[in-house]
Amino acid sequence: MYEALKAPPPDKIIQLIALFAEDPRTDKVDLGVGVYKDPDGNTPVMRAVKIAEKALWEEQSTKSYLSVLGDKSFVNGMRDLILGDAVDAARIGGAQTPGGTGAIRQLCELIQRATPDATVWHSDPTWPNHPQIINHVGLTSKTFRYYDAAAGAVSFEAMCDDLKAAAAGDVVILHGCCHNPTGANLTLEQWEAITAQCEAQGLIPLIDIAYQGFGDGLEEDAAGVRHMAASLPEVMIGASCSKNFGLYRDRVGAALVIGKDAEAGKLAEANLGSLNRLNFSFPPDHGAKVVSIILNDTELRTAWKAELEEMRLNMLSLRKGLAEALRREANSDRFDYIAVHRGMFTQLGGTVEKVKALREDHGIYMVGTGRINIAGLPADGLDKLAKAIVSVGI
Ligand code: LMR
Repeated sequence: MYEALKAPPPDKIIQLIALFAEDPRTDKVDLGVGVYKDPDGNTPVMRAVKIAEKALWEEQSTKSYLSVLGDKSFVNGMRDLILGDAVDAARIGGAQTPGGTGAIRQLCELIQRATPDATVWHSDPTWPNHPQIINHVGLTSKTFRYYDAAAGAVSFEAMCDDLKAAAAGDVVILHGCCHNPTGANLTLEQWEAITAQCEAQGLIPLIDIAYQGFGDGLEEDAAGVRHMAASLPEVMIGASCSKNFGLYRDRVGAALVIGKDAEAGKLAEANLGSLNRLNFSFPPDHGAKVVSIILNDTELRTAWKAELEEMRLNMLSLRKGLAEALRREANSDRFDYIAVHRGMFTQLGGTVEKVKALREDHGIYMVGTGRINIAGLPADGLDKLAKAIVSVGI
């Protein structure tokens, strides 16, 4: 049977993890997969997570099944963290999912169930898994222009122009904050404008928010999502706790569905429950319970927020440091946009060949055409890195 299978195309991000692991060079630099690293280059379990895990171990008396929708206190905690009081909670349904990828997958299946002829629009570029999941569930994907590489900024007019071709009922994937891969984000005014366009054309946003707290701060990063949620009848949100709680391998995420009224929200939620049942039955509990403990304990929540802010500020300082190092090395301001971008990534704007040369000749690993993970930057090696980047002609 298996001989009938075709070899799947390699996922560029996953492939890079393996290439980096195999590289024997001791001075190699990993700017690939989006994983936070502290100034010592480690990805430690967050302190608040350790405390919550200890409490969980001491208090948990059973590991029997919960609901197919997961842990309600987790889902509600995520709902409040992302949406605040922007929308009447009665209109919001939600399900726990295995990571943010799980949320995107379940929401795409929900779209497939509800409106199989809908086109799902995503930015060009976007996280490579977006189009792959859309197509995998049998939906059609189309792209809209998003990034002006020469300016290092969002090409908002082009984005709005391209979306004019979307039909009523089509879905638009937006990155809630910290756009992956570019690091170029919508301003609140642009969120307002795109919300008005969605309303006028009857488009339904699916907001992928995987980096809340990594951009301008927890509240600031949710401002666009909250505006959309408060203004439109239907919004879907896929959220991840991989990054802001550092729970990568525990697979913690949530799919939220805002309906035009409470009944619509409940129906969408029931469908998420049935999709969970079909795909994996019960979502993994441990990490979600940890998040729920943190979000529902005032002291622990405060400690987690402080820790997250430490991470954010560390990335911001590395971001600014790299922009300055490149300004010195290139003797030009063409890299200044890096300091303006926010989140875990920036798009350096190379070609596949230049990125390959950086990897092979300098042991510097980045994704695709130059997406770099800011958290992977070596604080004391920025000049050396800048020299290598400029030397390959980026
Ligand atoms: C990334 O973009 O590097 C992360 O979101 C990890 C992943 O799953 O691709």
